[in-house]
Amino acid sequence: MEMQFRLTGYFRTSGDLSAAADDVETFFRTTAVELMKRGVPDGRGAVVDSVECVNDCIHFTVVSDRYARAHDAVLRLRKPLAALIGKKYRIGIRKIEIDSYIISFPSKKPLKNKIPYVKNIEYTNEQLILSLNVGEAEIENRVPDRIISLIEDKIRSQEYGGKAEHWNLLWQSEKKQHENDIDPTKQLLDARWIKRGASRGQWIHGPQITKLFRVFEQIVLDEIIAPLDYKEMIFPKLVTWEVWEHSGHAKGVYPEIYYVCPPKTRDPEFWEEVIDHYKVTLEVPIDMIAGKIDKPIGGMCYAQCPPFWMFLKGETIADSSFPIKVFDRSGTSHRYESGGIHGIERVDEFHRIELVWCGTIQQVLDESKKLQECYKRIFNDMLELEWRTAWVTPWFMAQEGLTGLSEQKEVGTIDYEAVMPYRDDWLEFQNLSVNGDKYPGGFNVKSQSREQLWSGCSGIGLERWASALLAQKGLNIKDWPDVIQDMYGEMPEGIKFL
Ligand code: SER
Ligand code: ZN
Repeated sequence: MEMQFRLTGYFRTSGDLSAAADDVETFFRTTAVELMKRGVPDGRGAVVDSVECVNDCIHFTVVSDRYARAHDAVLRLRKPLAALIGKKYRIGIRKIEIDSYIISFPSKKPLKNKIPYVKNIEYTNEQLILSLNVGEAEIENRVPDRIISLIEDKIRSQEYGGKAEHWNLLWQSEKKQHENDIDPTKQLLDARWIKRGASRGQWIHGPQITKLFRVFEQIVLDEIIAPLDYKEMIFPKLVTWEVWEHSGHAKGVYPEIYYVCPPKTRDPEFWEEVIDHYKVTLEVPIDMIAGKIDKPIGGMCYAQCPPFWMFLKGETIADSSFPIKVFDRSGTSHRYESGGIHGIERVDEFHRIELVWCGTIQQVLDESKKLQECYKRIFNDMLELEWRTAWVTPWFMAQEGLTGLSEQKEVGTIDYEAVMPYRDDWLEFQNLSVNGDKYPGGFNVKSQSREQLWSGCSGIGLERWASALLAQKGLNIKDWPDVIQDMYGEMPEGIKFL
């Protein structure tokens, strides 16, 4: 079974068509057929199922497969048809009206969701039958094509199932004896190195663990940033819809965003009743506040690198600037993690160093190799971890709500995972990705030579590195690898609670 498109509608014209009817119908049976088959494989494309002129309307039904989809086919007819009846009969085309547009799809399962511009979805004989509610504006704006992509994505992700299937082991270190087999979050809490923050999935990191984070940062600076010559930048941490439209996050990130709403005005008088309410009741009147703030302009930093791309957006960049290599460590990332929150391993607020590189395809792939070597040395010789890497669904697809692997085999994400002895499982503690042309394309960035640009990024999670190290080595500094002990130095004195 194949995809089928069946569009019934009419061209409304500026005058009665009785004199032109024969010419119009001949046009549909001859020229139109040719036009609709242009650029389409033999035996494919659209056909005219019926045509009839009534008063000032040319009624038609066009049927097609996925080549020259029916709505495209109809749009192709508009100009030549207007030329024909304009010249000879002084009649113009006013509008295309659509009576019904039925698209059928092969699918193993029904679709549960409502879809914009779709009136009705039926499921019979392993076919989805959609009835669209579109007009001329929507077909010109390619709404039907996007409905189809959306449904294809949904069908594909149903067929793929869970994320676990897109995990292919790349490399695994030797098994190790571990000093520790207790949940590091529990140990950190007992030792008062951390306390819960006031917000969900948020921690306050005391001096001892903060010092360890800084050791990790120093390792990244010494082993990666300096030798590979990355330049520090500061990326925004409030990310607007515009950024997420370009990055693709607008396609899927909604359930995990911390939304940001500005006040409707900063006029103190407008806010006075909120202030007074609080002063009298000592309760923050959140419903009253809800009425005084605007709709969200975006959300808090989610993936760290997308807002960087506004720096390059729309620019043509000198070849001598490539490969561009930058990093950001200027703030937190935030994700509404739902039930998945666990200790310091999975949190709503976290700290990460993000590396971003961009250049020719070869430059981007070479850089990825260099980083992989750096990471291998760090995790083997410095952190002395038991770890492994896996080829997984690229983060930029996962964050759009897609599963599966990239269609280009060099484009994708490597997850770095460390064993967590206390639960006999693995924790992803950082990633490294070649993102293909996704970002230069999405933000319309060009190179001087016009050679295609690719990019990559790698997120180094400080909480995740700490979880990996502490889960395997424990909190006792004497059990840490020598390099880490040396870099860490004296344990800072914590705050004593009585
Ligand atoms: N931007 C990438 C991600 O969000 C790497 O940090 O996973
Ligand atoms: Zn990134």
